[in-house]
Amino acid sequence: MNPRLDLLQPYPFEKLRVLFAEVKAADKPAISFGIGEPKHPTPEFIKKALAESLAGLANYPTTAGSDALRQCIATWLERRYGLPRVNAATEVLPVTGSREALFAFAQTVVDGTRPGALVLCPNPFYQIYEGAALLAGATPVFANSDPARNFAPAFDRIADEVWQKVQLLFVCSPGNPTGAVLSLDDWKQLFALSDKYGFVIASDECYSEIYFDESRAPLGALEAAHKLGRGFERLVMFSSLSKRSNVPGLRSGFVAGDAALLKKFLLYRTYHGGAMNPAVQTASIAAWNDEAHVRENRAAYVRKFSQVTPMLAEVLDVALPDAGFYLWADVSRTGLTDVEFAARLLAAQNVTVLPGSYLAREAGGINPGANRVRMALVATPEECLEGARRIVEFCKSLG
Ligand SMILES: Cc1ncc(COP(=O)(O)O)c(C=O)c1O
Repeated sequence: MNPRLDLLQPYPFEKLRVLFAEVKAADKPAISFGIGEPKHPTPEFIKKALAESLAGLANYPTTAGSDALRQCIATWLERRYGLPRVNAATEVLPVTGSREALFAFAQTVVDGTRPGALVLCPNPFYQIYEGAALLAGATPVFANSDPARNFAPAFDRIADEVWQKVQLLFVCSPGNPTGAVLSLDDWKQLFALSDKYGFVIASDECYSEIYFDESRAPLGALEAAHKLGRGFERLVMFSSLSKRSNVPGLRSGFVAGDAALLKKFLLYRTYHGGAMNPAVQTASIAAWNDEAHVRENRAAYVRKFSQVTPMLAEVLDVALPDAGFYLWADVSRTGLTDVEFAARLLAAQNVTVLPGSYLAREAGGINPGANRVRMALVATPEECLEGARRIVEFCKSLG
């Protein structure tokens, strides 16, 4: 067996299951803010496009996807990020969800035979980055998010000896779980570091279309490169329809950026076997070509966040994030740790939240998720409101 499999950590939800096995939930209807799975309905036109293209099942899809899909993604990128021209043949690759792509990309980029290979991840972070690094033969290292700087990872605290061994840097913007969006200055710093040390940047942007002010769409990595007058060298971004179009089951996303990296990634994927189902490709074209449903989806999140955030801010330190569908609340003022908070909230109110420490690792002597909980506002507005009311009641009951 691959001995590196033993290095993988239990997933946060597995840790939550173990924690909750010891807790008797209150006798009320369960409300979950735990799992970050979109729950708004899938638009009918996407289902229709999928159902009407089943004839495509008679053919093997190519790993690079159809020209039509790659072109539609390139056009979307140009429109969304104001990019002058994205080359659909060389700078875009469809993937079956950003999760597998983030994992596979690390296998493509990392040379695990080089001594001390490192992959730098934000902290807290999406756990796939860590598993991808470990199975690629590297050691994951972490840049703690800094609440004083809108949760941006503190890259300036990473030592020179560490940077020299970093082969791949994962960033997540908008961040899971913090919701923070990297600024142009943050990108400037990252590009300078990448130029100096030669590492590749993988920018996970799967929450890019969930934001709260229509006039302020989150800055993307390729957009930042363009604004700073660069090309896409050593830079790729990952996007997905899962959250944008409420189709997590479709398994559809894309990778875009540095053509030389994508050429190698395509080679890797040819053997890996990550080609997208032809019917899914057609449904994806329909989804990327339409923005009306994305605006409606955003409006539904805006309504939920604008009601729930002020209620919770009465009892916890929490604020509207830059983007994404999570609240990242500091529970310190309840006197409970994040783990105690989650367990006692379940016992008192049958509401599930995810302890922040499960989403982070201890680095530099601190776990930056400790004393925080992640709440995914993915359920119906009624359920989100009821969940918030119960959290307020719970916090007030603590005195
Ligand atoms: C930060 C982050 N990246 C990537 C993904 C994967 O999304 P998908 O594979 O559905 O595109 C998720 C899913 O929850 C996520 O939270």
